[in-house]
Amino acid sequence: MALSPAFLDELRARTPIAAVIGRKVKLARSGRNMKGNCPFHNEKTPSFYVYEDGYHCFGCGAHGDAVSFVMQSQGLGFMEAVQQLAGEAGLEVPKASPEAAEAEKRRLDLSDVLVRAEAFFRARLLLSEGKAGLDYLRKRGLSDETIAQFGLGWSGDGRGALGAELARDGVTAAQLLEAGLLRKTESGELRELFFNRVMFPIRNRRGTVISFGGRTLGDGQPKYVNGPETSLFSKRRNLYALDLARAAAREGAVVTVVEGYMDVIALHQAGFSGAVAPLGTALTEEQLTEIWRISPAPVLCFDGDAAGGRAAARTAELVLPLLTPAHSLRLANLPAGEDPDSLVRGRGVAGFQAVLDAARPLSDVLFDLLRPAAGTESPEQRAAFRARLEDAAKRIPDRALASEYRAVLLDRFFAARRRGGVPGGRIPLRPVAPRGARVPPSDVRAGAERGRILLAILLRHPRLLRNVEHALEELVLPDGLARLRHALLIWAETSDVLDSAGLMSHLTETGLAADIAHILSTAPAPLPACAAPDAMPGEAEAGWWHFFGLLNRGRLEEEVAAAGRYFAAHGDDRAAEQRLIALARARETLNREQGEAEA
Ligand code: UTP
Ligand code: MN
Repeated sequence: MALSPAFLDELRARTPIAAVIGRKVKLARSGRNMKGNCPFHNEKTPSFYVYEDGYHCFGCGAHGDAVSFVMQSQGLGFMEAVQQLAGEAGLEVPKASPEAAEAEKRRLDLSDVLVRAEAFFRARLLLSEGKAGLDYLRKRGLSDETIAQFGLGWSGDGRGALGAELARDGVTAAQLLEAGLLRKTESGELRELFFNRVMFPIRNRRGTVISFGGRTLGDGQPKYVNGPETSLFSKRRNLYALDLARAAAREGAVVTVVEGYMDVIALHQAGFSGAVAPLGTALTEEQLTEIWRISPAPVLCFDGDAAGGRAAARTAELVLPLLTPAHSLRLANLPAGEDPDSLVRGRGVAGFQAVLDAARPLSDVLFDLLRPAAGTESPEQRAAFRARLEDAAKRIPDRALASEYRAVLLDRFFAARRRGGVPGGRIPLRPVAPRGARVPPSDVRAGAERGRILLAILLRHPRLLRNVEHALEELVLPDGLARLRHALLIWAETSDVLDSAGLMSHLTETGLAADIAHILSTAPAPLPACAAPDAMPGEAEAGWWHFFGLLNRGRLEEEVAAAGRYFAAHGDDRAAEQRLIALARARETLNREQGEAEA
């Protein structure tokens, strides 16, 4: 008997793969993953990696999940391996009862009904009756390829054509009801759920259609109708375009959560193929868990207005108990009055890239989100604020991570107090780009050149990444540089040893050779001495902060202050001392340059 995908998903979720593999292979931690010597071929240096939901050997190509590992390593058949793992996980393998087989068959039938319905809707969009729908989608800027990629369709007028056509394939009204395509009226009649609507197939993570959303063409209400919960479709667990984003994430796309179907589609069309959206509700815990299976630190996009701020706060609240060192979030906010769809249409790829580049880690945003609206002028208010920060950190179950959050939040609390009080009221997340203000082209060029130098220093001295990653993440960089920065941060996050040769070969393998060449080129100007491969580490670090300070002086001052505080409390920490020295040198250079410029 075939086991249901739901049972197999449950089994995988309950099986700690590293423990299963660890019985046969000695594993050591490597960044977020584990690695060891491959049990399937003879090797001396480990090239066998174990991830959250599978393993892969870069030596011999062996690849699979916990079930296939048990099959391969013990020579068992599929059902035997499943039996063994299910036993260990305390799960009962579903019996091959006639009812179970029947239920499974019905699920397949249901899936088949949806596939046929999708074909029906797609065909209608191209007929004359679908013309208004097709015109609408084109008017909203969607190309024919995009329309086909997302399988968009036209519902028909709701007078029974769907049922009539699918009946020819033997599909019954009862099945259409079960698939959520028909609904029962109060008087017990069956009606089509969707009529005169553009149809958006909703797919599960494997790409199988599980439901539909339908949009009216005009301003009618409701704007979208979504299919009901069925045995195939759970709104809480699925995300729009997760199948596409999952494939794209493997190729390095940034996984981005936005609000609407049209936002997702516009972003994919613009090349942001990691975009997903919840299905008409606020993001749920189950959805976050799904997203974390494909990306350790997805970016959540919120509107720049008050409602967006509330949504961000609600999400932060939801997410604290779920955080682990390997699972985090970044938050980005959209310019007021824009959604991702309007943004890429109005300002192109760069418009949305700037939003992504300005995304801030949760630890950083949390402080602003927790700031009490009533203000923080009085000692009582400040004490309450501080208690809130500490409570937030306490809600993180991982002890080490909780203490890091506590440190970061309290650091900012004290820094703000020293600077003359924590300003009252909720301040908006950092604006995405200097809107309206025109930056003279010469400044743009100088900015890009400084960004290039910052990355060059890191290519030569990647160990610095650990010290500068937060500052680096926040810089607004031009597209090309932002892509390399992203690759650098991911690499630093997943590598044990940060050496220049390893970094270069990794970047070359990921297709970024041309970016490296651009960064290290002698044009438009030769790189400064601190970016040379043989620069002393201290010189490289001081140089990095110097060029950083030219781009964001205020942030440099914050870094100096924070490093000073840290060193005052940890006087025997050599690394902290070096960091403070480098920062102080950078500031001295900046002050001198400024003095010279003013003289
Ligand atoms: P939006 O109103 O922002 O829709 O709702 P949108 O995707 O940007 O669509 P356009 O641009 O107006 O065409 C965001 C999401 O909320 C859900 C849908 O999932 C939608 O994509 N929604 C919205 C509903 O489920 N029902 C509604 O009536 C409205
Ligand atoms: Mn929209």
